[in-house]
Amino acid sequence: MESISRVSKSVRAFQYFQIYLWGILLFTVAVIISGDIVQATESGAGCGDSWPKCDGTLIPAFADVHVAIEFIHRMLTSVLSFGYLGLLIGGYLLFGRKHPVWRSILFSTAILLVEILLGASLVLFGWVEDNATWGRVIADSFHVVNTLVLLGSLVLIIFLSRPDGGILVAKSNPKRRYLIFAMLIVILITVTGTINSLADTLYLSDHVVVEETPIAQLLVSVRAIHPLIAIIGGFAIIGLLYLVIEEPSAQKSALGFAVFGVIFLQFLSGVFNIVLLTPVETQIIHLGLADTLWILLVFFSLYNWRKVSHNFT
Ligand code: HEM
Repeated sequence: MESISRVSKSVRAFQYFQIYLWGILLFTVAVIISGDIVQATESGAGCGDSWPKCDGTLIPAFADVHVAIEFIHRMLTSVLSFGYLGLLIGGYLLFGRKHPVWRSILFSTAILLVEILLGASLVLFGWVEDNATWGRVIADSFHVVNTLVLLGSLVLIIFLSRPDGGILVAKSNPKRRYLIFAMLIVILITVTGTINSLADTLYLSDHVVVEETPIAQLLVSVRAIHPLIAIIGGFAIIGLLYLVIEEPSAQKSALGFAVFGVIFLQFLSGVFNIVLLTPVETQIIHLGLADTLWILLVFFSLYNWRKVSHNFT
């Protein structure tokens, strides 16, 4: 009787851990979106050039809305870091240090640290507001790729720590390599989208005369590249995923079809972005959909990389 209650307690602990993981994943998306709001509202220098302090103090006087936006983004990042502390402790206690879940948590924590350092470098090097330099273009591109790796690592942890243990056995989808291409295409589309977003920020800034700023001029002149790559790439992803879904050994095809739906919504929101001249609201929807697309695609890819047995670990 006592051992049954011990087993049910440990099953509950794994379930709570799963819920906690989903909370961390959703919170990470919220932090990424808050970072986008910082850029869209030109609040990147809201805290001045001090980091980790804001305006030289721990809690700044909220003189204007830019300080509040930048400070809230930094606070959310701090809360996420504490969330990772819980992840490290919970993962270690539940799985032990030799388990792939624990190793994935360590990897994800390293990516979070890189993310924080990249965010800090934007502030310390002044790659914010109306700054139009190659340094900013490169840092922004690294930053967005890192956010995708961060989200992907969390999806991997959720996948590996499911109740069926995520045991991987030999029988896999013969078209699984196509999924790597699909993921690379999403990364390419996302990087071009970020550069597009930077171009829009500079174009709409009161402090930048685009014609007199060569890098801003170049970025603004190539803004058509993102929609073009996104439309071609979007259809390529649909084609690649369809080939994977078609296989008899395909897993969780519904996730693949969900990716199709999100691509369609993303096309629509992209058109709204252009027609409405990229207000913050449509930017948030567009970025939220890009992250949703990525999360679904990584889940779908993990399920189809290998056939998953249903043994409990
Ligand atoms: C699979 C499809 C797509 C993905 C994954 C995607 C992804 C992204 C991402 C990640 C951004 C940067 C968001 C930000 O930092 O605020 C972006 C920006 C943008 N995208 Fe897309 N996009 C897609 C399709 C499209 C399409 C089809 C269009 C146009 C018809 C479009 C138009 C734009 C515009 C105008 C921006 C700049 C918005 C801004 O100023 O922030 N996108 N996209």
